[in-house]
Amino acid sequence: MAITLSRAQFSYRQAFIQRLLGRPQRAAELCLAALKTEDYSVAHMRAHKMLSEFEFPGEGYFQVLTRIHEHLKPATYLEIGVDKGESFEVVAPTTLALGIDPDPHVKKALGPNQRVFKETSDDFFAKRDVTAELGGKPLDLAFIDGMHQMEFALRDFINVEKYCTPDSTVLIHDVYPIDATSAARERVSWFWSGDIWRLILILKKYRPDLAVNVVAARPTGLAIVQNLDPNSRVLEERQREIIDESLAQDISVLDGRKDEMLNRFPNDWPSIAKLIDSHGRS
Ligand SMILES: C[S@@+](CC[C@H](N)C(=O)[O-])C[C@H]1O[C@@H](n2cnc3c(N)ncnc32)[C@H](O)[C@@H]1O
Repeated sequence: MAITLSRAQFSYRQAFIQRLLGRPQRAAELCLAALKTEDYSVAHMRAHKMLSEFEFPGEGYFQVLTRIHEHLKPATYLEIGVDKGESFEVVAPTTLALGIDPDPHVKKALGPNQRVFKETSDDFFAKRDVTAELGGKPLDLAFIDGMHQMEFALRDFINVEKYCTPDSTVLIHDVYPIDATSAARERVSWFWSGDIWRLILILKKYRPDLAVNVVAARPTGLAIVQNLDPNSRVLEERQREIIDESLAQDISVLDGRKDEMLNRFPNDWPSIAKLIDSHGRS
């Protein structure tokens, strides 16, 4: 029986073979061809995934996140966007960990120091006594991985920073887009980072006091933000103007200088550990 392949499936299979043959450039071209033909198919998702593996050959973000937890040993941790709880699972049992997600699907039982709030991050920060939820302690480590539209992540950052100290660390997922399709504001493919990349440009422009570095980790980069200032109100007070200005920018603004504009940092653990130790924790 003859098997009919869609154009995306055909291009992806060719890409797979080219990668096996040691021709990554040709494989990447074929992935891009697969992405031009259809959305929301398995071939489409695999093509995005292969492109991200070419872009970021080192450890994935789970491993980097795990290393950061082991290195910092945070007393407190807050995660926005928990989903199945895979990133929440890497947290040490001794860390007081708060997860926030309006639609969580956590698989493993939570530990005695862990809580997941079934609500949006905006509701959580508006309605809860966050300091009390943190046991009266400041926030040592946060991971922003909720709604994949820039203005949500911007609000999350503004809210999170208020509970930080200059020694805290904020991680932001999905900040390095693989292509325009996966970086669309409205989801049109399985593989979706949205337009969180805009937040990096915003932080660089409006908060030059922050240390912002984007670790080149699969699938779509992991930002490490340090030198936090819980008293800063720049982002909050100029939020509307900042969002309008950012949305007027097309993703093509990154063309040819993505690494420089997004402060790409090598995904090499000794260098990441040194970076983390060079800020805060005075
Ligand atoms: C990419 S998943 C998180 C994955 C998880 N951090 C991990 O690495 O395993 C994104 C999650 O954000 C949640 N989300 C969407 N909108 C949100 C919001 N406004 N506040 C908090 N979480 C939100 C979704 O329900 C989804 O579970």
